[in-house]
Amino acid sequence: MSEGYPDIRLRRLRQTPQMRRMLDRPFPGPERFLWPVFVVPGSGVCEPIDAMPGQFRYSVDQLIEALKPVANMGISGVLIFGLAEDSYKDGTGTHAFDPKGTVQEAVRAIREAFPRLLVFTDVCVCAYTSHGHCGPLTAAGVVNNDASNVVLAKVAVSHAEAGAQGVAPSAMMDGQVAAIRGALDAAELTDTILMSYSTKFASAMYGPFRDAEKSAPQSGDRQGYQASCRDLGTALRESDLDEAEGADILMVKPSLFYLDVLTRLRERTDLPIAAYNVSGEYAMLIATADRGWGDLYPMVRESIIALDRAGADIIISYWANQYEKVLAP
Ligand code: PBG
Ligand code: ZN
Repeated sequence: MSEGYPDIRLRRLRQTPQMRRMLDRPFPGPERFLWPVFVVPGSGVCEPIDAMPGQFRYSVDQLIEALKPVANMGISGVLIFGLAEDSYKDGTGTHAFDPKGTVQEAVRAIREAFPRLLVFTDVCVCAYTSHGHCGPLTAAGVVNNDASNVVLAKVAVSHAEAGAQGVAPSAMMDGQVAAIRGALDAAELTDTILMSYSTKFASAMYGPFRDAEKSAPQSGDRQGYQASCRDLGTALRESDLDEAEGADILMVKPSLFYLDVLTRLRERTDLPIAAYNVSGEYAMLIATADRGWGDLYPMVRESIIALDRAGADIIISYWANQYEKVLAP
């Protein structure tokens, strides 16, 4: 090789759009997405969430309206989060398993209006407890793991009985997947898919969501149950355990700051993996673009490609309801 003349020229295969198109991986289609939605009691409610432009708190009737274009775009389904009025909150989060609760009602309404959408529900009680933690507390004021599992199992069964095809426990209690699987089996709900938030980190990226859900803990934080972002080994063991306990789908959350975790998990499991592109990851790109410091749609597309490349099968993202505008090429 003479000076200045490389033998290997990678640019040859990037010369034209046609060549790039032939060799590039396809952009994830709408079928890879689940849209997280917030449902509130009442009717006629469509309240914008300040820290999450493009996202709203919907009453069930308004959610059905909002879902029409989303279903038409070919998004696979929704992941439902419920909100409760303060007067319904208690120490245990009892209202979360009320068969007439808002989530249960939303599940029934969506299944009826959109038979082809997949309905997953978030299974947790932080939006239903007076203290805002993800399970009942011990006398000492810490989350009681085993008592929480009993409550979470009731919540999951109530969602599945309402017609949810999948339940997604997010409380990070030890043994929650086994407890929920056992309760579903006992209720003869053997076909309900269990998508575990298997590796969920104690993250600073949930801020806009907690604002949307009004679910920030009244005191303390969630570091006693969610995984530490400094400890990769334990984070992976969390997912391994959930697989052993019978989860059908694993999840990494947040996702954009945890692409290494997604990739490592991809190498050790053959289960489908969901990446939860969380509220702070959504808001940060919008905030950057709003300041004129970046071009929103290309930034969003690049972030979604990163999730796909890292090994995610399912992408849970607030961009899902804007797929056509933001993500379609
Ligand atoms: C609560 C829950 C949280 C999210 C999903 N379920 C917040 C938390 O754990 O504090 C975060 C979602 C997001 O930020 O988009 N169990
Ligand atoms: Zn919770």
